Amino acid sequence: ASGISPESPQKYVEEISQLPKEKGWRGLQGLFLYKNFWFYPAFLKGALHARDHFQAQPTDIFLCSSMKTGTAWLKALSFTIATRGHRPSDDGLPSNGGSEIPLFASHLPYTCLPKSVIDSDCKIVYIRRDPKDTFVSMWFFLRKFVAGKNSTDVESFASIDEGFELFCKGLSSHGPYWEHILGYWEASIRRPEKILFLKYEDLLEDTQLWVKKLAEFFGCPFSAGEEREGVVKECSFESLRDLEVNKSGKHEKRGRVIENSAYFRKGVVGDWRNHLSDEMGKKIDVIMEEKLMGPGFTF
Ligand code: A3P
Repeated sequence: ASGISPESPQKYVEEISQLPKEKGWRGLQGLFLYKNFWFYPAFLKGALHARDHFQAQPTDIFLCSSMKTGTAWLKALSFTIATRGHRPSDDGLPSNGGSEIPLFASHLPYTCLPKSVIDSDCKIVYIRRDPKDTFVSMWFFLRKFVAGKNSTDVESFASIDEGFELFCKGLSSHGPYWEHILGYWEASIRRPEKILFLKYEDLLEDTQLWVKKLAEFFGCPFSAGEEREGVVKECSFESLRDLEVNKSGKHEKRGRVIENSAYFRKGVVGDWRNHLSDEMGKKIDVIMEEKLMGPGFTF
């Protein structure tokens, strides 16, 4: 969540050092188990700081997701929907409210969100994605992350087979992936008016429909005749990928330089078939069915 100082006090380092630890994906730091989820320490420091200090407001809107499930797209859509009609004009004059839309984004599992997020009863949108595509997207992204400036580091990174085995054991950033989904799914059943649960694949198949639903959920529905196509186009994979800031921009995360283009790889459903065998695909599907079919989940 935003508003978190990057300087994490020593107490969090000590708290993390007491937690159960497993080797992470080769080339990355170890994973630490906190409230039944695996975290890389840099994420966890922020989460603990947020736990102790983040104060949510009832008007806040949280965009929640596991890594590589379409977070940047959901952020773009949500911002574009919420600020339509009152964004800064091309002449650079200040916006009359767009920048004050209280949108936050988090990869935290539901049960690890700061207590005030739940207590404040603010709205949450959760996006999930087919685990096979999520895994492939994650592997390519983290490989780039590990490479940073130095491409030779790539050789030390987990092979796709190694990463896959760990992912299937739940050992991935904010994993187990299925538990992440389950937490929000169960919460969305308990609090449907406050938690909107969406699927990357549905969003891709009928973006206009979900843009309408998101706008209604945010409390700023489209009026009859107001067109949604502009929002859909503005946030399409090609539009976002081709923005200059995403083509040539970079940012630094935990001492490594990440090119913004890493967030816009292919943006399709089913790319896993180019990287995983049928057998591997089946293995994840079976795990997901076992873990998620129980509580009435439609897979
Ligand atoms: P791929 O790696 O499969 O291409 P996140 O934002 O959570 O990190 O997720 C990244 C994934 O979302 C990437 O998947 C990326 O290409 C895809 N993505 C980003 N913008 C998108 C868009 N506008 N439409 C569809 N997919 C998008």
